[in-house]
Amino acid sequence: MRRRVFSGARPTGRQHIGNYLGAIQNYVALQGEYECIYCIVDVHALTTLENTERLQSDIREMMLDWLAAGLDPEKSILFVQSHVPEVMELHTLLSMVTPLGWLLRVPTFKEKARMQPHNVNYGLVGYPVLMTADIVLYKAEVVPVGEDQVPHLELAREIVRRFNNLFGPTFPEPQPKLTSFPLVMGLDGAQKMSKSYGNHIELAASPAETLELVMTAVTDPARRYRSDPGHPEICNVFNLHRFFNPTRVEEIATECRTAGIGCVDCKRLLADGINSMLAPFREKRAALANNEGYVAEVIATGARRAQVIARETLAEVKEKMGLLWKPDV
Ligand code: TRP
Repeated sequence: MRRRVFSGARPTGRQHIGNYLGAIQNYVALQGEYECIYCIVDVHALTTLENTERLQSDIREMMLDWLAAGLDPEKSILFVQSHVPEVMELHTLLSMVTPLGWLLRVPTFKEKARMQPHNVNYGLVGYPVLMTADIVLYKAEVVPVGEDQVPHLELAREIVRRFNNLFGPTFPEPQPKLTSFPLVMGLDGAQKMSKSYGNHIELAASPAETLELVMTAVTDPARRYRSDPGHPEICNVFNLHRFFNPTRVEEIATECRTAGIGCVDCKRLLADGINSMLAPFREKRAALANNEGYVAEVIATGARRAQVIARETLAEVKEKMGLLWKPDV
């Protein structure tokens, strides 16, 4: 049997090229080798959201991007976390074997508590327990994530070990599978590409929007005049050429170093590269978006398939934890 992959991502709406290079591309590739389950974690989003007006449209936009990028509902289970509510039951049960001290030490908890001191809610503390429940509900062994999620997975393994010790072997210990892609920096060249910094390019942007955004990108600051030689190795626009103009990278580097091309020319080349590479994605996305009811159908099917596995695991957990009612004792 193929090994099982699970990954979750917060509903952040339309995805950008950093999301694609850092995560989605990897999700797509894993579909060939593993049985994959990919989930949009709407309940996790509630730990930091105070306004949920856009939650449903963010889920839909994100799923459209996933589908257009090649996540295939025939191959993988694609669903929304809260549509399989068994995960919340498992979260409660796992919380009984998770020492509070473990949770208070998690770096992301401390960071979020600092970022939202007015809203250090109970769910925020339990975030990694819910994440563990996501993974082990499907007995997934492999979890594609970024570096920042490694402490969460360590904790997941500790919870699993403790559960297995107390109640007998039940869950495999999930291992992170780190994406080998270098960090994708934002257009500001200062921080990683992220919607929250507003330094991103959406996959679904139009060619004109893409060009306009690329033109705002920060390049080598030492290159002030068109005739100054550039330093591609420190230039963020050049870094993006590696992904979007892979066959012309050497040529572009030479042209930059010799001031053969200016930054404006170079950005135009980048926008062309992005636009031609994403053209098939954009076409497919537009078609899917026009197909009324398609996303709803995909996530309903995903939830149904996920729930079959979830119910089986949860029944086993309850039995092992002594929660099965036996009228004859
Ligand atoms: N915590 C992850 C993030 O912020 C999202 C997530 C939730 C997740 N549940 C998961 C990732 C399960 C992997 C597996 O990116």
